Amino acid sequence: MEIFEYIESMNSRPELFPDVLAYAREHKVPIMDPDALQVMKHHMHLTGAERILEIGTAIGYSALHMLSVSDDVEVVTIEKDADSHRTAKAFFGTYEVAGRVDPILRDAKEIDPEMLRGPFDMLLIDASKGNNEYFFENFSPFVKDGGLIIVDNILLRGLVVEEEIQSRNRRRMKEKVDAFNKKIAASGMLSSFLPVGDGLLIISKQEEGKNA
Ligand SMILES: C[S@@+](CC[C@H](N)C(=O)[O-])C[C@H]1O[C@@H](n2cnc3c(N)ncnc32)[C@H](O)[C@@H]1O
Repeated sequence: MEIFEYIESMNSRPELFPDVLAYAREHKVPIMDPDALQVMKHHMHLTGAERILEIGTAIGYSALHMLSVSDDVEVVTIEKDADSHRTAKAFFGTYEVAGRVDPILRDAKEIDPEMLRGPFDMLLIDASKGNNEYFFENFSPFVKDGGLIIVDNILLRGLVVEEEIQSRNRRRMKEKVDAFNKKIAASGMLSSFLPVGDGLLIISKQEEGKNA
């Protein structure tokens, strides 16, 4: 058994939302990897995060997992694709969490964050990867000091370390994600780049002037 298979088997647990997972697989909806989800939920436990802002709902899989951490968790989640938003709302109804989740159908780049009823304990950035920096700059001011900012897919399935990329779009995407990662790494903020799933970045928002 490979070491990563061993870790995976130790981490594996019954799926809480099998029909949502099955839908994602059938319709090829990209969702967070189980180990990245697990690490994120663990951090929610450790920090007591209850008010969450998510950029990138898709069909609501990660939001459902965040809502499952405690009955006190509330999620505001933004999605620009109408079909995904509708499907997410249906799943929120199925799992009877509609009262704790505010699904917003909008392009997050067109939203005034002041309108979102912050501040938030945690921000999850999981939308168009080339916009990580934009989302970070615009939405992290609405995370409380001591709160968390989590960014998924910071490795782009290995693309971030590829030298020769033929496709212009992929090269551009790599450059943007890499530039954002490097900016965070150089910022002095308390951050961890974790090799779980497709790479998970966890940043602790600290008071201005305090470094890691
Ligand atoms: C990786 S999926 C999100 C997966 C979800 N967080 C999960 O794990 O279940 C990314 C989603 O972000 C949405 N998206 C991309 N750019 C966006 C934007 N500018 N504003 C809102 N949603 C966006 C896409 O339509 C897609 O549904």
